[in-house]
Amino acid sequence: MDQNQPIPVPLTTTGSDADADELLQAQAELCCHASRYMESMALKCAIDLGIPSAIHRNGGSASLPELLATLPIAANKKPFLSRLMRTLTVSGIFARGTSADGTTSVYQLTAASQLLVDSIPLNLLPFTKGVLSTYHFRSFLCLGEWFQDDGDATPFAMAHGGTDVWGAMSLDRTLAAGFDASMASDSNFLAEIAIRRHAGAFMNVSSLVDVGGGDGSMARAIVKAFPHIKCLVLDLPHVVHGIPADGFVQYVAGDMMDFVPPADVVLLKLVLHDWSDEDCVRILSRCREAISNREEGKVIIIDTVIGSPSQQIYEAQLFMDLCMMTVTTGKEREEKEWHMIFLKAGFTQYKILPILGIKSLIEVYP
Ligand SMILES: C[S@@+](CC[C@H](N)C(=O)[O-])C[C@H]1O[C@@H](n2cnc3c(N)ncnc32)[C@H](O)[C@@H]1O
Repeated sequence: MDQNQPIPVPLTTTGSDADADELLQAQAELCCHASRYMESMALKCAIDLGIPSAIHRNGGSASLPELLATLPIAANKKPFLSRLMRTLTVSGIFARGTSADGTTSVYQLTAASQLLVDSIPLNLLPFTKGVLSTYHFRSFLCLGEWFQDDGDATPFAMAHGGTDVWGAMSLDRTLAAGFDASMASDSNFLAEIAIRRHAGAFMNVSSLVDVGGGDGSMARAIVKAFPHIKCLVLDLPHVVHGIPADGFVQYVAGDMMDFVPPADVVLLKLVLHDWSDEDCVRILSRCREAISNREEGKVIIIDTVIGSPSQQIYEAQLFMDLCMMTVTTGKEREEKEWHMIFLKAGFTQYKILPILGIKSLIEVYP
């Protein structure tokens, strides 16, 4: 078939029955694409109501009457819960099963919704709330307008009175607290796996600076696993001021564009994806200058390298890329894009370890 030929669209009511079936199937498919945000909203509602934690507290499964007895639902809304649960079951957030005695139909947690149980130490509840936040939704509503606008404002800035995401967080404590908690939950979740799978990276390290390290969750996990490492967290003043000293990590307020404190290892977790290629080269150049031990020193980047044999991981990476385009000036990068910015920042070699699901661990050597 000629690649340049458009695919004929059978928009006719006089075609065959097979044509009509195809049209109706296409209509259903389009309806599902257009309604995906309702799936996200149903998930947000489940989180707001605390449904995953309620199922967990009930022993890992709960019938509809058991959920109705425990969830904060007004009496006149109780008849609606089964409809919410039906959609969330079809979308894979919950599963259906039967009670141990085989008499009652129950809802069960799936691998994904187990990560939303508030009493589980490594839950991803704050991170998921962050993804589902009003700030994101408002920004995404501006995406079409942004594409047509020849200014420099991000969709986030267009939706939030012209302020970029970092400026907005320095002004709005609620936004900042939600964001910091969301990043901390991602770090706590990932730290143990990253350290277990890549312990060798930290063995001969005596000092580490976590650049854009937020509330220090990742650095704290590293010090707990490797107490010989002296860990410093560099972040913006509004992030680090007021964090109580815990004896594990020291905090430095500053701008990574200008200065990175010296250390054997510089860690950048989910920082570079917030920035343009030019900004990344500038940040990485500061990191390179900060590496005190040129023989053993390195930058460790935990970030996305787009591409995965898993369709779900690949899709999640592409969603995160759209999120970066909408909320920040950054992007998720393919390996060749990473390679380019490493070279421009003066690094000679790198190694990518795709061991962290959506994210990879990249070691970059000066
Ligand atoms: C996406 S968060 C990642 C936080 C943390 N590394 C993690 O993964 O949990 C990006 C961090 O970069 C910080 N940041 C933004 N601009 C910065 C700058 N100019 N200098 C230092 N830190 C900055 C933000 O405050 C935020 O904590």
